[in-house]
Amino acid sequence: MGSNRALTAEFDRSDRYFASAPWASIGTEKGPCSWPHVSDTMIFPTQEEIHMSEAALKRIEKGIANLATQQEAICERLIALEGRVATAAGGSAATHDEVIQLLDGFRAGEALGAASICAWIEVCTTDCVRGALRTIHQREAMHAVLLEERMRALGAEPKVEIPTAEVEKAMKSLGSTEQTDAQKLLDFAERTPDADLLLKPIYDMADRLDHDQETQWLLRSIAQDEQSTVALIHEACALLNPQAA
Ligand SMILES: [Fe+2]
Repeated sequence: MGSNRALTAEFDRSDRYFASAPWASIGTEKGPCSWPHVSDTMIFPTQEEIHMSEAALKRIEKGIANLATQQEAICERLIALEGRVATAAGGSAATHDEVIQLLDGFRAGEALGAASICAWIEVCTTDCVRGALRTIHQREAMHAVLLEERMRALGAEPKVEIPTAEVEKAMKSLGSTEQTDAQKLLDFAERTPDADLLLKPIYDMADRLDHDQETQWLLRSIAQDEQSTVALIHEACALLNPQAA
């Protein structure tokens, strides 16, 4: 069986490499007629051509293996990169439920903060403290409204209710006429010595909200207000409690 250029050309155009294995038996033992779709008039590749295609197949197989190895290495690097990004952001992206839970709890706390600060203003006897409290009260009330609005925009209704005993304790404490402004400031300053630590859950959540930048920056801006509030109370505390410095 000799070489045939027409067949070789056809062989080249077709899937010559992957078709090479079956060719090996054709024309050697059973002959070309053993292949259902070929006829006796067709002429098949020479052994030399078959060997050439086998060599090409081996090169392709080696190339595919190399590509697979490279792809695996790229995947490993991507996974490592994702891990570093997630770590830098303080965790994976926040889920909808996590966001709503934080917004709702934060909202409830701010609403109580506004109410209790209002109670303090009513009994406050120190001008400088009262001036600061008015600003803080407005901030707390505004934060509660903003957080509730954001929750509703995200399709959730406010649900968190602070236990009655906790509300009564806060209102009684800050609305007390028995405690002086200085004592209330000192109590607050001692309970919140580190604003960064206090606000860490808020900042951490914001860092996980790259997919919801409106909530992310709402939380960050509210947290900045809280930083100012804590700083102001510590300043007033130091002023009215020089012995505690
Ligand atoms: Fe607050």
